[in-house]
Amino acid sequence: MVELEKLKQELKKVNAEYAGIRDVPVEKRAEFGREINAKKQEILARIAIVEQEALDAEVESIDVTAFTAPNEQVPDVYPQSYGSKHPLMTEIDRVAEIYQLMGFDVVESRQLDDEYHMFDSLNFAKEHPARDGYDTFRTEEGLIPPAHTSTMQHRVLKMYRNKLTEGKNIAVVVPGRVYRNEDVDATHEHTFYQCEGVYVSKTCTMGDMLGILREFFEKYYEQKLNIRTQPGYFPFTEPSLEFMIEKPKALGGKKGDFLEMLGCGMIHPNVLKMAGIDPREYHGFAWGGGMDRLVMLKYGLRDVRNFESGNLNFLREF
Ligand code: DAH
Repeated sequence: MVELEKLKQELKKVNAEYAGIRDVPVEKRAEFGREINAKKQEILARIAIVEQEALDAEVESIDVTAFTAPNEQVPDVYPQSYGSKHPLMTEIDRVAEIYQLMGFDVVESRQLDDEYHMFDSLNFAKEHPARDGYDTFRTEEGLIPPAHTSTMQHRVLKMYRNKLTEGKNIAVVVPGRVYRNEDVDATHEHTFYQCEGVYVSKTCTMGDMLGILREFFEKYYEQKLNIRTQPGYFPFTEPSLEFMIEKPKALGGKKGDFLEMLGCGMIHPNVLKMAGIDPREYHGFAWGGGMDRLVMLKYGLRDVRNFESGNLNFLREF
């Protein structure tokens, strides 16, 4: 910085010299002014260089890999508080990957939706009591934080329907965060994750759907599984099923211990129609189920509340 000081002194001198212009004969003033100005510009340029060099040196001396800012003390209570990916996010990536390997596209859901996508586009009749089954939250403006990932079905169908006219199928999964106004306990959270699947083609059947779901669950749990279905009811599928897997022995299950993993069925013709797809020409199936439950079974977890709790002891187990 000594150099910078010197230059600043020089600049002062030049400025003082310039003040002497009054004593210079009129006809020489222009030249005098030019000379002084040239000197001044040179000094200013040198100052700029020195300042830039100082700045560069300072930036280089900041160790961006350092754990703390230079003057910051890390409290000992958190000796290893490095961040890491949330276990649920790791599992969601795995779920998406399995479907991708089967040829599905992955589309993200959204955090705020509306009455139309939550209910109307899914063939819920106006005032139908089934709407109450979803314990939806609402904003003051009447928007809805989605209570299931099915809110994305209508969008996905519209977004991909051109594929059908090109002779291809629609095959999309939608993982996403959902919200329900529920009493919270070890198996119920107000905020959790689901994954939706949507498939449409000219010839698909319920058998194809069960094949895809079996494949998914066997890949995810890395073992052969017994599956079972029972009739269900959803306004957006006809027929509707509940899809169950027998809890694997390796995961603490007994024979006959079936767990419901998701809801599914053949997409209702009205849902296809509303998205501009002719149900006389195309058929589809869809499914949706909770990811938290899926992950809990894999790792033998008992309390769903841990996922949203930010409890470091729980998170460090992964
Ligand atoms: N959205 C339903 C729920 O949250 C689950 C579901 C059932 C999704 C049937 C589907 C379906 O796509 O076809 O309870």
